[in-house]
Amino acid sequence: MKQPTAICPSILAADFSELGKELDRISHADAIHIDIMDGHFVPNISFGPMLAYAVRKTTNTPLDIHLMVTEPEAVIMQLAPLKPEYITVHYESCVHLQRVVSAIRANGSKAGVALNPHTPIEGIKYLLADIDLILVMSVNPGYGGQQFISSMLTKIADVHQMIQGRNIRLQVDGGVTQDNVGRIVQAGADMIVAGSAIFTAEHANNYIDTMRKTTS
Ligand code: DX5
Ligand code: ZN
Repeated sequence: MKQPTAICPSILAADFSELGKELDRISHADAIHIDIMDGHFVPNISFGPMLAYAVRKTTNTPLDIHLMVTEPEAVIMQLAPLKPEYITVHYESCVHLQRVVSAIRANGSKAGVALNPHTPIEGIKYLLADIDLILVMSVNPGYGGQQFISSMLTKIADVHQMIQGRNIRLQVDGGVTQDNVGRIVQAGADMIVAGSAIFTAEHANNYIDTMRKTTS
């Protein structure tokens, strides 16, 4: 059965000089999406696991960590004491993906696998029992504020089909706004990440509420 849509603001788009206030602005969020980037797997560097610890000090909202790093194992171990609700790794960043997602679960988090726009979905077909979330990237990872790649609507529908009857969340990340979220959820997504759309809104919590309402 389809789960209610979860709205996950990406703090990559927050004003870091006012992080506490920014977190207050998104108190209606279902989870806080934290993009860790290492400058190798993606061309950009954002912040490390320490930021997730800082966010946890300020809020009890579940944490959804998106690792865009070449060697996620070390970061997963650094995050282990925090037990974030979700940790997601990229398909291309793991030579032994089943081992990595098992380690995430063993440390008490739910395990996600992210697929870049070009990544075929078949590669995770045999890991469906080992994962709790599939993240369909609807932009090339590395930066906020990019345009949603519309062909990803077909991919979302294909993933939705593949996970029928399983307890796996289908998350979409990149270029999501109030205008396209309806089509994305219609295609099968049940977890929505949005950075710039939410944080540039005058009332971020209202924006979150509208996104959730549009999709229910
Ligand atoms: C991109 C990140 C996204 C980013 C989304 O690599 O994974 O989470 O923050 O930003 P918007 O919603 O602005 O596209
Ligand atoms: Zn992300």
